[in-house]
Amino acid sequence: MIHHIPNVLSTSQVQYFREEMDKIEWVNGKVTAGTLSATVKNNQQLPEDHPLTHHLGTIILESLGQHPLFLSAAIPLDIIPPLFNRYESNESFGFHVDNSIRRIRGTNERLRTDLSCTVFLSEPDEYEGGELVVEDTYGFHDIKLPAGDMVLYPSTSLHEVTAVSSGCRIASFFWVQSMIRDESERYTLFNLDQSIQSLRMQLGDQHQDVIKLTNMYHNLMRKWAEL
Ligand code: NI
Repeated sequence: MIHHIPNVLSTSQVQYFREEMDKIEWVNGKVTAGTLSATVKNNQQLPEDHPLTHHLGTIILESLGQHPLFLSAAIPLDIIPPLFNRYESNESFGFHVDNSIRRIRGTNERLRTDLSCTVFLSEPDEYEGGELVVEDTYGFHDIKLPAGDMVLYPSTSLHEVTAVSSGCRIASFFWVQSMIRDESERYTLFNLDQSIQSLRMQLGDQHQDVIKLTNMYHNLMRKWAEL
């Protein structure tokens, strides 16, 4: 399941990000690639240990922590601190897999990458090419979203970023370890939660069936969640 998570950042936040990112030196993107993906990765990144990377990443994480659609879809346990990349002058990132386990920089903490996230920081009309292409059982999906919006997709998917033939594509990328490891269980909980939210609007919080379905949601969480 590929989710479009709108309005992770406001227009003014995106503008602030872009202005601040223009002030510092970007580095070669191969620094965070695995040995296999380094051969197809051709882009630039903000230095991982730069205070600005940490500062902007924190803004994204604070926004996601209050985003109902993200929380419902991802059921996050932990999130890798966001990184930032830039593609221009025909740069691309060919088809690759993301590492299944990632260490949080500067710590001994490791995360299983269940979900991959890209927050778009350039408007679609600012660049040509640069689609995020994600493969699932229905084939290939070309993804290019408005600045401030995010795509959330299973880290099990093969994916690529096509060459940016003109303009500049800036984005943030990071990974989520979900409390629900299994994708079909996570999707079941997402659908149940969305239906409960809709029924709460129609019937009110105290309707007996709303309470029963909410109880079912939490019982499935108890059965499936890993903390
Ligand atoms: Ni990737």
